[in-house]
Amino acid sequence: MQVSRSLFDDVMVPNYAPSKIIPVKGKGARVWDQDGKEFIDFAGGIAVNCLGHCHPALVTALKDQADKLWHLSNVMTNEPALLLAKALVDATFAEKVYFANSGAEANEAALKLARRFAKDKYGEQKNQIIAFKQGFHGRTFFTVTVGGQPAYSDGFGPKPEAIVHGEFNNLDSVKALINANTCAVMVEPVQGEGGVMPATAEFIKGVRELCDAHNALLIFDEVQTGVGRTGELYAYMGYGVTPDILTTAKALGGGFPIGAMLTTTDIAKHLVVGTHGSTYGGNPLACAVALAAVNTVNTPAVLAGVKAKAQLFKDGLDKINEKYHVFSEVRGAGLLIGAVLSSDYAGKARDFMLAAADQGLMALVAGTSVVRFAPSLVISDADITEGLARFERAVAQIVKA
Ligand SMILES: Cc1ncc(COP(=O)(O)O)c(C=O)c1O
Repeated sequence: MQVSRSLFDDVMVPNYAPSKIIPVKGKGARVWDQDGKEFIDFAGGIAVNCLGHCHPALVTALKDQADKLWHLSNVMTNEPALLLAKALVDATFAEKVYFANSGAEANEAALKLARRFAKDKYGEQKNQIIAFKQGFHGRTFFTVTVGGQPAYSDGFGPKPEAIVHGEFNNLDSVKALINANTCAVMVEPVQGEGGVMPATAEFIKGVRELCDAHNALLIFDEVQTGVGRTGELYAYMGYGVTPDILTTAKALGGGFPIGAMLTTTDIAKHLVVGTHGSTYGGNPLACAVALAAVNTVNTPAVLAGVKAKAQLFKDGLDKINEKYHVFSEVRGAGLLIGAVLSSDYAGKARDFMLAAADQGLMALVAGTSVVRFAPSLVISDADITEGLARFERAVAQIVKA
């Protein structure tokens, strides 16, 4: 059967607007579409493909596990899940791990745990969640309501309650909202979907202190920043501020769906048998691949490489900007990079993304005025240089138009 983009419109729910391109093959940082056109991938499946496409360590882990055991459900545990949980505990502040299948589900678990912990310890009234405008935490009804773009949660009937939103990087706005009834503050160390906006160290430290002063849990949503993206295994390590709960997904599976919530024993104990769960959570295939991803990324060479490659990116983008004056700022953390369009090009991020695709480069947007890059953490310097050359041609095309 001939598969084309028009089939999408025939058979798929219209909640996405995918590109005309249908990729069929990937290797490292390169992707090929149905017509054999080749792309350099600076999108990484939205910060997922931390080791590029079809990395040998992940392919081997998946194939080995595929021959052994696919699924049990949580009626029984399994070796890959236990090994992955142990690896995450050994590598982070966490003492306990809960497995989910996506970022939204990891966040759903985190929010439910925070509410249950507060209720058990302090009573029903301590249920308020503070999150941030422009924040993004997923699309379940709870997580999308905690997210800071009401447009995403409007129109689905009554929303979960006791959720308020402060200004990101504005400690006074948190001070104004936090009180004895606050059970948790949920924050992304770098707002990803909200425009690749890093939290300042001062803000993150201040939020930690406010949580401590009000017996509120601090939840870091590291779904986009986790597993090496910022040059640390988790971004909290770079801030020197430890959360009470951390969520991770996207790069955790390097392209295989998995999410996890990490926390301490003292907090975890409130999610007793029967309070929460998922049929696929801790699936052996997902955990085997994720273990290989974590072990491959969590090495000094790969993490230092992220920082060096990020500099190469930034220098390259700065050079493009010296010539074309299209960005007001290039910001981000590690290989999560946002090129903020200057006022002349505000609202045109999608045009840049489409022009890049024409030139054989996959890029992302974050909102309407930020072009986002989230490539493989092990992309070669040569691929970065070639990708930036393609991006420069795309920029030139737009500037001339
Ligand atoms: C910070 C953050 N949290 C949560 C999510 C939701 O993850 P998922 O799409 O896997 O449910 C995303 C996805 O973009 C994200 O960037």
